[in-house]
Amino acid sequence: MIDLDENTVTDATLSQMATTSDPRLKEIMDAAVRHLHAFAREVNLTPAEWLTGIAVLTEVGKACTDIRQEFILLSDVLGLSAVVNALHDKKAKELGTQSSLLGPFFREGAAELPLGANIVANHTAPEIVLYGQVTDNDGAPLPNALVQVWQTDEHGLYDVQAHDDAHMDMRGNFRTDANGNYHFRTVRPLGYSIPMDGPVGRLVRMQGRHGMRPSHIHMLITAPGHRELVSALYFGDDANIASDTVFGVSASLVVEAKDNADCPIPGLKSVRYDFRMPKAADNDTGRVGADPASFMPAAE
Ligand code: BEZ
Ligand code: FE
Repeated sequence: MIDLDENTVTDATLSQMATTSDPRLKEIMDAAVRHLHAFAREVNLTPAEWLTGIAVLTEVGKACTDIRQEFILLSDVLGLSAVVNALHDKKAKELGTQSSLLGPFFREGAAELPLGANIVANHTAPEIVLYGQVTDNDGAPLPNALVQVWQTDEHGLYDVQAHDDAHMDMRGNFRTDANGNYHFRTVRPLGYSIPMDGPVGRLVRMQGRHGMRPSHIHMLITAPGHRELVSALYFGDDANIASDTVFGVSASLVVEAKDNADCPIPGLKSVRYDFRMPKAADNDTGRVGADPASFMPAAE
C-alpha cells in the first residue's frame, strides 16, 4: 500500500495503466497523465478551479453541432492545432510547402472551374489573380493536380455565413495545366473573427485577445503519389498578421498582391505562389481539421 500524496499518485496511476496492450495508447496516456498531474501541481489547482475546467469542457462539448466543432476551435486558440500541424510537416518524406489550418469552412464538392475563372459570384471589390505552379519537391511540374480554394468575401464572410448552407461561393476547384500551372481570379478576402459566441470565444475575450484571423485564402492541393497539402496564403499587410488567434500564419505563407509582369491576366494585381508537394509516404495520412458533421451521431 503506497502513502498517497499529490506526487505519489502519479506513479500509482502509471503503474495501474501499465497493462495497456496498445503501445501507442500507453505512450500517449502515460505522457498525458504525467503532464496533467504536473500541471495541477504547478498551479496548485483548487477544487473550484478543477470544477470550472470540467464545466467549460462540458460546455465546449454541448456547443458542438454538425456545422460547429468547438473542441477543434479550443485546440486552435490554444495553439495545439498548430503544434500538430508542424509535427505533421516534419514527418513528411521531403520538406514541401508548409501546412496551415484546414479550419471549419472547407466543403467537399465545390464546382470544378476552368483556369482563370473568378471564384466570387458577385463582388464589389477589385479583382486580383492568384497564380503559380504546383511542382514536386525537385521543381518538376505536376500537371492535373487538384487545387481546391476557399476564402471569405471582401466583407469577411464565408459562403455558409453570407448565404444558406446549400449555396457555394468564394470557393472553387481547379486542375493544373500540362506545366503544373494554375491561375484564378478572386477578390481580396477580409480577415474575420473566429466564432466568439461560445465558450471558446468567452475564454479568448477573458484573455484580452481580439479573436481575429488575418486575411487569407485556403488551399487544399492533391496530386497522385504526393502528400496532400493543406495550407493557406496570408496577406502580409493585414493588421492582425502577427497575432492570428489560431496561429496559422507562418513567414513562408505570407504574400502581397502587386503588379507582376508574368501574371496570366494582365492589368490586375496578383499574387504568385508556387506550391511544392513532397512524395507520399505511408505515414502521412490525416489532416489537422475535419468536417464537424463527422463527429455527430449518424441521423436515424
Ligand atoms: C479558418 O481559417 O477558416 C478558421 C480556422 C480556425 C478557426 C476558425 C476559422
Ligand atoms: Fe479561414
